[in-house]
Amino acid sequence: MLSSPKGVSFLLALLIASFSALFLYLIAGSTRQTLGVSFVLTFVTAFISVYVTLEFLIFREISRIYVLLDKLRAKDFKLPRKKVFKSANPLQRLNAEISAYATKKQQEIDELKKLEHYRREFLANVSHELKTPIFAAQGFIHTLIDGAVDDKSVRDKFLEKAARSLDGLDALVQDLLTLSQMEAGDIKMQYGKFDLNDLTQEVFDQLEERANSRRARLKFEKNYDKAIMVYADRQRIGQVLTNLIDNAIKYGNDGGKVIVEFESDKEHVAVTVKDDGPGIEPEHLKRIFERFYRIEKSRSRDKGGTGLGLAIVKHIMEAHKSKVSVSSKPGKGTQFRFKLDRAENH
Ligand SMILES: Nc1ncnc2c1ncn2[C@@H]1O[C@H](COP(=O)(O)OP(=O)(O)O)[C@@H](O)[C@H]1O
Ligand SMILES: [Mg+2]
Repeated sequence: MLSSPKGVSFLLALLIASFSALFLYLIAGSTRQTLGVSFVLTFVTAFISVYVTLEFLIFREISRIYVLLDKLRAKDFKLPRKKVFKSANPLQRLNAEISAYATKKQQEIDELKKLEHYRREFLANVSHELKTPIFAAQGFIHTLIDGAVDDKSVRDKFLEKAARSLDGLDALVQDLLTLSQMEAGDIKMQYGKFDLNDLTQEVFDQLEERANSRRARLKFEKNYDKAIMVYADRQRIGQVLTNLIDNAIKYGNDGGKVIVEFESDKEHVAVTVKDDGPGIEPEHLKRIFERFYRIEKSRSRDKGGTGLGLAIVKHIMEAHKSKVSVSSKPGKGTQFRFKLDRAENH
């Protein structure tokens, strides 16, 4: 009753009329008739004035606010109104709805601030990463111009170093492009059926020289004599394997082992790439998939790393509706694992 303007006006008018009748009865000792007339008149006047005030000044304004809130919510929450608050008192409901709305907005603002911070940090990282190889190549070339070019052995060494810096720059720009295209959703996965065993052997062959330079051995966990058919984007999965195996060689021990294992169940094939290197401390473990995150920046860059490899791996696995996980025991080694759909089910 208290939630409608009529109910509130009725109660208030009743109260006021009773008081005035009581007052007249006590003070002036009026007749019953006068009391009755005064009661009715006071009741009617009070009822009308309270009702008008409530209906036109307060409740109408509140319903306008409701309409506005509904419009806002229809845009933002996509929730039907009744589901949210059932309280009968309109002011309480309004209060609850406005706080819910404000909380939601605050969350959005926090999210935007986080993104803004992320964007700024990313820009700073990109500029820094670009500057490093450009600066190095510039230095070598200027030294050559300034006379080092006359000494044949110095010249060759500097040219080689300048070229290596520019190769690093090229790799970085390639990775940045891949990453930005993936984030923009421009790269569609080209699904097909292929043999993982075969693809891994190809990647082993490509990385053989690099492995040899560290006396590392690239091996399968066991001899997979049958084809391991999966349904995925062959080229992208090749990229994933290349980065994981390349990391295992780069960050593993000299003379270490890099092992690839496949385990099939009814629906999936799980691929594990493991090394017996120094491993990754837990505090770094959860961050290595972030863009540009490297445990030892200088060491990684010397090894030709861009710090974007694992971020790309993560994106590729997400695009396959799968994910890549990592586990590591410091001092013992690291393993990365991801699952792909078996080809039979497609
Ligand atoms: N197998 C591994 N063992 C130890 N550390 C690793 C391994 N793989 C990756 N890391 C760490 O994770 C970081 C990020 O890897 P990644 O994104 O591929 O960048 P990059 O190879 O360019 O350094 C590396 O810099 C390295 O510190
Ligand atoms: Mg890498």
